[in-house]
Amino acid sequence: MSALLAQVMRTGLLGQQGLTVWLTGLSGAGKSTIGACLEQELIARHHLAYLLDADVQRAGLNRDLGFSRSDRAENVRRLGELCGVLAQSGTIVIAAAIAPYEEDRRLVRERHTELGCTFVEIHVDTSLDECMRRDPKGLYRRAIDGSLAQFTGISAPYEAPRAPELRVATAGCAPQASAALVLAELERRELIRGATPRVIHSLPLDALVRRKAEALRR
Ligand SMILES: Nc1ncnc2c1ncn2[C@@H]1O[C@H](COP(=O)(O)OP(=O)(O)O)[C@@H](O)[C@H]1O
Ligand SMILES: [Mg+2]
Repeated sequence: MSALLAQVMRTGLLGQQGLTVWLTGLSGAGKSTIGACLEQELIARHHLAYLLDADVQRAGLNRDLGFSRSDRAENVRRLGELCGVLAQSGTIVIAAAIAPYEEDRRLVRERHTELGCTFVEIHVDTSLDECMRRDPKGLYRRAIDGSLAQFTGISAPYEAPRAPELRVATAGCAPQASAALVLAELERRELIRGATPRVIHSLPLDALVRRKAEALRR
């Protein structure tokens, strides 16, 4: 079976196309929180969704990496590869990762194009002041008193995306409301089904690949 055919059959099986939704933003912006809401809501809507949190991966896949420029690039590259593989498997991957450098994010986007996968970049656009006020893990306090080096926004740069698919503001709104904006954008781009769960196999397939899939079933 060709790789294309396998992909078509997986799409029919799952009733969805795999893709990567990458949440970038400062520490404390709300990436993990929104990512968890998104994952939960997508699963509730009968989608196969998986949250890939950079912090979690730093304890495993990326445990050999620190926060130097080159280690950050490698961290994002590996996460990007993992996203691509999962997206090819048909999963809706939600990556929650600061990915502070435009270049690193661009490479992940290009890699998705090579793999034939959709890449949606969402800027969780929370100001540095607001992130410092939240400081959910006390990291800004440590970065400012000097006990934590190379901290994004304080002692390392954050290059905000210039042309993300969507910017989501979070100040003064609930995480569920921010997640709803992301879902609405995915629906608007026809990357996921609408809120009403439909029967699996209802995703329309391109006529050509449908004929191929039928030929294989015979
Ligand atoms: N609209 C919102 N979206 C996401 N998080 C929010 C929002 N409003 C307030 N918060 C709070 O901001 C903090 C974000 O933390 P977290 O999700 O761990 O950030 P990150 O993963 O970007 O470092 C949490 O304490 C969360 O409750
Ligand atoms: Mg996080």
